[in-house]
Amino acid sequence: FVTEIDAADTEKGTYPHFMLKEIDEQPFVIRKIIQEYQDENDSIKLDEDIRQAMNQTDRIYIIAAGTSYHAGLVGKQFIERLSNIPVEVHIASEFSYNMPLLSEKPLFIFISQSGETADSRSVLVQTKELGHPALTLTNVPGSTLSREADYTLHLHAGPEIAVASTKAYTAQIAVLAILAVDTAKAKGINLSFDPLKELGIVANAMESLTDQKDAFDRIAKDLFDTTRNAFFIGRGMDYFVVLEAALKLKEISYIQAEGFAGGELKHGTIALIEDGTPVIAISSQENVNLSIRGNVQEVAARGANTCVVSMKGLEQNEDRFVLPQVHELLAPLVSVIPMQLLAYYAALHRDCDVDKPRNLAKSVTVE
Ligand code: G6P
Repeated sequence: FVTEIDAADTEKGTYPHFMLKEIDEQPFVIRKIIQEYQDENDSIKLDEDIRQAMNQTDRIYIIAAGTSYHAGLVGKQFIERLSNIPVEVHIASEFSYNMPLLSEKPLFIFISQSGETADSRSVLVQTKELGHPALTLTNVPGSTLSREADYTLHLHAGPEIAVASTKAYTAQIAVLAILAVDTAKAKGINLSFDPLKELGIVANAMESLTDQKDAFDRIAKDLFDTTRNAFFIGRGMDYFVVLEAALKLKEISYIQAEGFAGGELKHGTIALIEDGTPVIAISSQENVNLSIRGNVQEVAARGANTCVVSMKGLEQNEDRFVLPQVHELLAPLVSVIPMQLLAYYAALHRDCDVDKPRNLAKSVTVE
């Protein structure tokens, strides 16, 4: 296998942590993905077999764990909204206990940074026995999940060393967007959305965020330095990003964090809001902007230390940070960067071992 590792990729260089280096690499990873998935006519370059598999299926089952599962939730929206194929997203370790009814022509998509996660592999073994086709999205083309699946899409993120996944998550979302658009085109669906062009805008937006680290350092200090818990809320696409935001914060800073849908606040979690409880909201989608702000007011009225991160065009005076504007569908790629940086600085302020959090492994090869 041709790998893309050079020595600089596996060394921290001037960075204090791999995680910070990997956060910073995201604009370059997105540009690399554009390059790898673009043909000489600026159209999408994709293996014809994968195109056919996507075209033939009547339902896609995405299988993944951890951060890759969160990328799958975003990917489902791309595939359903752009190419009209129904998609289910399943946590790998739950699949065999809660196995869904399979459609007539299922296609399994495994999303895995390492390509070695045992929970995902056990689903692959099971679905292969049933004779169903499988596509793996991975950062490691020679990995088990890649070798054992019928097809592989490479994430081109370069080695990810920090246990907390950052650049692999955004690479997964970018490749899923390309796959969704390619499938739509192959089905003759007319889209005004050019993913390669839009991803170029995303890469620039990411860069402007990683250039403003001090802002996130300060916000993290204000929100998390003395807290034991934190809540992240979002609606629509933003809901999936807040799940990832909470996971990032808890895995490296050990602050108990929960991400949930804004509308669910009133059904239980609002009982936990006290004076100073951090509540971080993402608002990147026009159709949910007002309702998520209603949720922010509800928690602010109960003393929460609120922080709204909004997208340009939707901002209001009290917002703590305004993200550069990108296509709404691709907003998760941009709104996750502040969340990664907030988690990083929270962990740093607490003297946590950022790259190797306690009890966690980069790749979990046991079920
Ligand atoms: C481990 C890592 C997570 C990762 C998950 C899935 O738990 O600590 O960061 O998201 O495995 O890993 P994969 O390699 O399959 O994406």
